Amino acid sequence: MEKEAKTTVVSLGFIKGGVGKTNIAILLAKYCAAAGKRVVLADSDLNNSLSFYFLNKEMMERTRKLNLAAALSDEGNDLSSFAVPTDTPGVDLIASTPYLADMRTLSEKRLKRLVPGLYGKYDILIIDCHPTYDNIVLNTFHAADYIITPVLKDLFSYNAAMFMSEVLPRDVEDLKSWYVLINGYNRRYEEARSGRQSDFIDLYRKGGFPLTPVETWLPWTAQIHLVVDYHKRLTCMKDAPGAVYNPALYHAIAELAGCFFEGALEAPGVF
Ligand SMILES: Nc1ncnc2c1ncn2[C@@H]1O[C@H](COP(=O)(O)OP(=O)(O)O)[C@@H](O)[C@H]1O
Ligand SMILES: [Mg+2]
Repeated sequence: MEKEAKTTVVSLGFIKGGVGKTNIAILLAKYCAAAGKRVVLADSDLNNSLSFYFLNKEMMERTRKLNLAAALSDEGNDLSSFAVPTDTPGVDLIASTPYLADMRTLSEKRLKRLVPGLYGKYDILIIDCHPTYDNIVLNTFHAADYIITPVLKDLFSYNAAMFMSEVLPRDVEDLKSWYVLINGYNRRYEEARSGRQSDFIDLYRKGGFPLTPVETWLPWTAQIHLVVDYHKRLTCMKDAPGAVYNPALYHAIAELAGCFFEGALEAPGVF
């Protein structure tokens, strides 16, 4: 019998908030789905932002029973049965719930043990973490094939990344792929040898952080609000009506998505 295809697990996690985890989870999910991949998101942030983005009131009602805390509550659960369809074709979601806060004694390996329930049904699980470092975050890290930590070009991000580089090898058994992704990269300053951008990138490089490829670094752009807050589509094509034209943002997300799949992804142009 043919073995079921595995689901690649990506956790967007960082002890620091406000660095773009949720925005990146949204864009990445939409891109992968538009490229034909079967996507399931997990919202492990008590803030619920990802769930609010993807679910309407009716769908939200279903998440009273079907949510991440319920899924994690029993070792025998089928994780896929806790995902609800969203209004984005190809994207399902395992929603957050305040009850995640009651799971402080949950084994750090529970989610990892449940992930095979997604095999054959989803190509990728993208997890949005809350900005802390606890057993829920560690559950996602243990389950992850890739841990992606978005950082800003500021000292607080740098210090927090330093903290992560110390604790991750200690806390995550078999730590495979942890990467730091720069959010707020301006290609115009690429050649400048001095200035804030190169100072911080030097700092991250000298700190020995495993950076994602430069092509995946997101530009800082107010247009991200149009895409995320106003649910507009993003495009790299000048003549796509109604969509937000931002090739730099589009290509960063496309390149990031490409890191998680073998073989080239079919670029959707608009997503
Ligand atoms: N590349 C970007 N350009 C402009 N604004 C951004 C970018 N990334 C994130 N932001 C903004 O920063 C804020 C925090 O982003 P968010 O995704 O909620 O971070 P986190 O989930 O890490 O707390 C939001 O207001 C978001 O719109
Ligand atoms: Mg967030």
